[in-house]
Amino acid sequence: MINKIVEGFSKLNKEEKINWLVDNYTNNPQTIKKILTQYWNEDSEIQKLHEEFSENTISNFYMPFGIAPNFLINGSIYAIPMVIEESSVVAAASKSAKFWLERGGFKTKILGNLKLGHVHFLYKGDKSKLNNWFSNYLKNILLIGTEEITKNMRNRGGGITNIELLDKTNDLNDYFQIQVTFDTQDSMGANFINSCLEQMSRIIIEQIQRSEMFTQIEKESLQIVMSILSNYTPNCIARAEVSCKIEDLGDQNGISSEDFAWKFVQAIRIAEVDPFRAATHNKGIMNGVDSVVIATGNDFRAVEACVHTYASRTGKYKSLTHCRIENGKFHYWIDLPLAIGIVGGLTQLHPLVIVSLQILGNPSAEKLMQIIAVAGLAQNFAAIQSLITSGIQKGHMKMHLLNILNQLGATEQEKQYLINYFKDKTVSYHQVISEFNKLKKQ
Ligand code: MEV
Repeated sequence: MINKIVEGFSKLNKEEKINWLVDNYTNNPQTIKKILTQYWNEDSEIQKLHEEFSENTISNFYMPFGIAPNFLINGSIYAIPMVIEESSVVAAASKSAKFWLERGGFKTKILGNLKLGHVHFLYKGDKSKLNNWFSNYLKNILLIGTEEITKNMRNRGGGITNIELLDKTNDLNDYFQIQVTFDTQDSMGANFINSCLEQMSRIIIEQIQRSEMFTQIEKESLQIVMSILSNYTPNCIARAEVSCKIEDLGDQNGISSEDFAWKFVQAIRIAEVDPFRAATHNKGIMNGVDSVVIATGNDFRAVEACVHTYASRTGKYKSLTHCRIENGKFHYWIDLPLAIGIVGGLTQLHPLVIVSLQILGNPSAEKLMQIIAVAGLAQNFAAIQSLITSGIQKGHMKMHLLNILNQLGATEQEKQYLINYFKDKTVSYHQVISEFNKLKKQ
C-alpha cells in the first residue's frame, strides 16, 4: 500500500517512472516494461515531441489511422483521414462516400462561426446601476482593455464581436454573466478566449472599485466566480446535406427505393422522439466526427460536449440528423456545432496531423468543419442503411472478424482460411471459435 503512493513522480525521468510503476503496480515488471518501451518511437526527436504533448508520459498509445476515400463535397473530391479503433467505421464511411459520389455528392455550408465565453460573477446591488454602468461605460472599457490580446486576431479578421451583460438571477441568486462573442478565425481559440476573459475579469474588479456610481457595499458584493470559454457553440455550425430522387436511391438489399426512403425517414423520426435511440444514433455520428477531429489534432472532448448539448437544446435529447421526402426527392442533412481549428494546439506539431491536413488540402477551419460534418452524416447514413435493411451485425461482425482471430492468436494462414470461410456466412463470436478449433484439430 505504502509503495503505491509516490512523491515527486513528475520529477523522475521516464525510465525511473516506468521502473517505479512496474515494480509497484504490476506482477510481471519485465514484460510490462518491454511492452511500454516497444511502443517508443525509434526516432528520439519524434518520441520527445509526443512525450511533451502531455505530462508523466511513459509510452505512446497507437490508434489506427485510416482513409475513407471518394468523398465528393461541393464538387471536389476528398480522401478523409480517420483515427479510430472501432472496426467497420472507416468501411462504413467509405461505403457512404461511394454511394453519394454517384448521386451528386455532399453539399455543405457554414451557418455560423462564432464562439462564446463568460465572466461568471455575483452581484448583490442595484441591478439598474449595473446595467447602466455596463452599457454606458464598462463594455467599451472591456474592448479597449483587451486590445493588446485581440490585436493579432483582429489583424486576421477575427476578434471580439459582441459583449453583453446577462442577468441570470432567475436561475441563481445574484448571478450575472458578461457574455463575450468571439470570431477566432482558423483557431479553435480556447487560449485566446480564456486570456481575453481573464483580462476582462481583472478590468471589472478594477473599474467597479474606481466607479462613483456604486456604494461601497455594492462594490464589495461583486465577486468574480470564474472566467472561461463555453464549449457549447450553437452559433458555430456546419451543415452537410445530400439529396436525390427517391428512385435514384436504388434497390437496397431487396428493398425498393420507395420503401427504403420511407423506412429511413421513420428511423430518423424515432431518433427525434426517443432519447434512447437518439443516443445510439448520435454515437454513430460521432464515430465519424471524432475520428476526423482526432486525425486533425482537434479536441474531441470539446466537440463531444458541444454536440450533445446541442442535441438537447430543445430540452429533449434528439437526433442530430434530419430527413424529409419532398416532391419525390430524398433530403437528408446534419447541422453540427464544431469548434475546431487548423492552427494552434497540436495542429502544427503532430507530424500525422500535418499529414492529415495536407491530405485534406490544408483546409481553413471552416472548410474542415464542413468536412467533419460530412463524415458525421456519412457515418449515420451507413448505419441507418444497414439497420433498416440487413441489420448492423452482418457488416460489423465481418469487419470485427480479424479482431476475433487476433484475440485467438490465429496465424496468417489460419486468418486467410477463416476470412475466406466466412465470406458468405454470418460471423458470430461463437461460430468463429468453433471453426477455429476445428481448423486447429486438422
Ligand atoms: C456503432 O458504433 C454505431 C451504431 O450503433 C450507430 C447506430 O445505431 O446508428 C451502428
